[in-house]
Amino acid sequence: MIDRVSFTQMKDGTKEDYDFLTEHETAYTKGTADRLLTALVSLDESLSGYQITRLGHSLQSATRAERDRADTDWIVSALLHDIGDIFAPYNHDEYAATILRPFVREQCTWVVEKHGDFQLLYYGHHVGADPHKRDAYRDSPYFDDCAQFCERWDQASFDPAYDTLPIEHFADRVRAVFARTPYDPAIIRPGAREPLIST
Ligand SMILES: [Fe+2]
Ligand SMILES: [Fe+2]
Repeated sequence: MIDRVSFTQMKDGTKEDYDFLTEHETAYTKGTADRLLTALVSLDESLSGYQITRLGHSLQSATRAERDRADTDWIVSALLHDIGDIFAPYNHDEYAATILRPFVREQCTWVVEKHGDFQLLYYGHHVGADPHKRDAYRDSPYFDDCAQFCERWDQASFDPAYDTLPIEHFADRVRAVFARTPYDPAIIRPGAREPLIST
């Protein structure tokens, strides 16, 4: 059994090299959830100026989702929706959506991907941006879902007095989502809509 590949250029690799790499990468992907949880904690140091940290905001969004009895896809999407702030401050929504896309329903990925534009409704007029930028997506089946995501879970979750659940509360749920088979049609379910609020 080899412990590293033989090649210095990919085109020279052998079947044995690529079998070895595939096995190696499969083992590595099992750590995705915990790497994301670690990254989420590092959001605690990002973007000061708000009354709560970015980690606090993420946890509060997920807590509100859980208390609305949203399903796991929604809760994990709410938890990770701003994780792109670390490396992609100008397209943090697309960055988070890319992380989620293989593992959650299309509906949730779409909402995370567009939430930045929908959030402008609340403050665009203060910063010289178009508050109605979201109107470009009026024809999407997920328009109302994204509007509700922003109204109930995102824009509302900057309250230091709110009873926010800790990251440990969500850890197993994150692990379960990222242990799913990537791009499983039974998970992605294109066009399917699950409610954000259940009674
Ligand atoms: Fe955001
Ligand atoms: Fe947010």
